[in-house]
Amino acid sequence: MKKLCLLGLFVSLASQSVLADNLPAPIENKDAFISNLMKQMTLDEKIGQLRLISIGPEMPREMIRKEIAAGNIGGTFNSITRDENRPMQDAAMRSRLKIPMFFAYDVIHGHRTIFPIPLALASSWDMDAIYHSGRIAAKEAAADSLDITFAPMVDISRDPRWGRTSEGFGEDTYLVSRIAGVMVKAFQGNGANAADSIMASVKHFALYGAVEGGRDYNTVDMSPLKMYQDYLPPYRAAIDAGAGGVMVALNSINGVPATANTWLMNDLLRKEWGFKGLAVSDHGAIFELIKHGVAKDGREAAKLAIKAGIDMSMNDSLYGKELPGLLKAGEIEQSDIDNAVREVLAAKYDMGLFKDPYLRIGKAEDDPADTYAESRMHRSDARDVARRSLVLLENRNQTLPLKKTAKIALVGPLAKAPIDMMGSWAAAGRPAQSVTLFDGMTRALGADSKLIYARGANITGDKKVLDYLNFLNFDAPEVVDDPRPAQVLIDEAVKAAKDADVVVAAVGESRGMSHESSSRTDLNIPASQRELIKALKATGKPLVLVLMNGRPLALLDEKQQADAILETWFSGTEGGNAIADVLFGDYNPSGKLPITFPRSVGQIPTYYNHLSIGRPFTPGKPGNYTSQYFDDTTGPLYPFGYGLSYTEFSLSDMALSSTTLNKTGKLDASVTLENTGKRDGETVVQLYIQDVTGSIIRPVKELKNFRKVMLKAGEKKVIHFTITEDDLKFFNAQLKYAAEPGKFNVQIGLDSQEVKQQSFELL
Ligand code: NOJ
Repeated sequence: MKKLCLLGLFVSLASQSVLADNLPAPIENKDAFISNLMKQMTLDEKIGQLRLISIGPEMPREMIRKEIAAGNIGGTFNSITRDENRPMQDAAMRSRLKIPMFFAYDVIHGHRTIFPIPLALASSWDMDAIYHSGRIAAKEAAADSLDITFAPMVDISRDPRWGRTSEGFGEDTYLVSRIAGVMVKAFQGNGANAADSIMASVKHFALYGAVEGGRDYNTVDMSPLKMYQDYLPPYRAAIDAGAGGVMVALNSINGVPATANTWLMNDLLRKEWGFKGLAVSDHGAIFELIKHGVAKDGREAAKLAIKAGIDMSMNDSLYGKELPGLLKAGEIEQSDIDNAVREVLAAKYDMGLFKDPYLRIGKAEDDPADTYAESRMHRSDARDVARRSLVLLENRNQTLPLKKTAKIALVGPLAKAPIDMMGSWAAAGRPAQSVTLFDGMTRALGADSKLIYARGANITGDKKVLDYLNFLNFDAPEVVDDPRPAQVLIDEAVKAAKDADVVVAAVGESRGMSHESSSRTDLNIPASQRELIKALKATGKPLVLVLMNGRPLALLDEKQQADAILETWFSGTEGGNAIADVLFGDYNPSGKLPITFPRSVGQIPTYYNHLSIGRPFTPGKPGNYTSQYFDDTTGPLYPFGYGLSYTEFSLSDMALSSTTLNKTGKLDASVTLENTGKRDGETVVQLYIQDVTGSIIRPVKELKNFRKVMLKAGEKKVIHFTITEDDLKFFNAQLKYAAEPGKFNVQIGLDSQEVKQQSFELL
């Protein structure tokens, strides 16, 4: 009640002040409302709005509230409940101008109910499922008083050594761009000002996925052509979908850190793309300009950042400390500060906070009695999305699905790993509420369960790696280590395997291995687990590998050893149930890889849509003097777009409606898809186009469309795709986006490699 009164008072005060200045339409007129507010703000209050602080458990709450009431803080992140945020908003309502705070958080793949990691979501190729996951995340986050998320992360990642590959949607520009738009719409729902929406801030602008050698926080050096063609479109798609914010990347781009990059932030983002939203620096990034070596001190760093158009500084004090002096000395203009403040206030306006600062905080009496209550979760949605994201990589002799009557040995360090199941950015997810593979299989088997469990191995036998992964949580280590000797663990698992009809081994990475600051030189499953797999193979029992990992792994040995391999990534709260659904055939897997799996780390990069080359390697021909590595087979282990099903699909009768296309015309590409197997199932029909000859070298193929199709056993369907000139456009050497007349190959396949092809000419 008290809050509502305060709110009413605030709105009426705000309106009065506008009227007092004889300005038109108060709160309904966004620009006038903000201009008027800004006229009343002191310099300190303006600079306060540019400060975004992280709320740690150890931070003195009283002091923070004082700062807020003094107008010194614009927003926080990492405080994530209504009763935590309400007193802060109350403090803002006590400030002179009552400018509301916003509350942010990394809601990346779920909030309380955790959905599969983004790379897994992309593996579903199911835009409805992805939308649904984002919408639920937004609803749950908004119900916990959050206003904005630092997501989606749409950095194209073509180097799986980079730990944050897990957090993105893969290697392909088209697929990632489609998902970028879907996620923004999912988070923002009917508008960022809706009570059940949160504002999206797309990240990391820009090119973070291309850091040198996959080393996190490193430099990016890239030609403008490659940027425009391959890396920038997903950010643009998010912005075109209405993303209210942008988080600026920690990396440099061609010698200039993104945080100080006026070309990136002003020329490209604001002028060329017309972005009018909020630009937030990443954690401590303004300060890091000194470390990058482009600013000699904090003063210069603050100057570079504000000049480049960084509105809010995340967790560093430099704006507060340096902007007043810089302004006084004439090194920055008042307009530099005002532009940033205007964008912060506009974002708050767009989040609906000026109309109702308690829009998402609500009334105390409506607070949930238990934040973690099961009734607040969306388990069945999470299970459904998770099973759509699993990718069947191998299934020899129809090892899968498993019979529920079989005696199954479940082994591996990830079989009972609730934290890992949730994945790398598990927001407010709680391990105690996540379903492990052991739980899921036990439930699926019911009372007659003959599941025998043995751990079999630790995640890693390397103490240094273990310590790295448990950095910051030595008290309750995230990666649990069984102190028994490795051989004892293996022997126990082998015994279980010998007693069973079939072995399921849950192996791969702990979630921290595919995370921020988790670059790897090696893409193998850690040695401790490979020893286990070898021993299991030696038992001669059918071996099913359930992989959990956040990046493509090098699985050359495992491909030989395992009878079946199911890639489950990190599947979220309901992961254990979803995986059990697939293992026992209650759901027929339909996922497809959104990123290429290399044979070895030395092959990187292996993305499918590379440029044509003068001396390509041609399978079946001598390799000498062609582009390849002579010491290994050329080509990926599993190509982009690949994934099996328990049924079989065939493609036939590919046809184009014409052999020519006019610039204003349309072409129909069709193919007959048939489910030739014995089970109903879904697959993804993928359309690739190759521009055979251009003014510059074009990729060997590019994904241009796809459709996820459900067919009953024995059913046939003709799938149609429309091709227009727009699908053929690219950035030429002058960075002009246009199509060029000439020959195009159209390929349709169920992955990027096995395709049917027809050609046409653009007139
Ligand atoms: C640093 C990460 O790079 C960024 O993605 C994240 O949003 C912030 N930390 C806040 O947690």
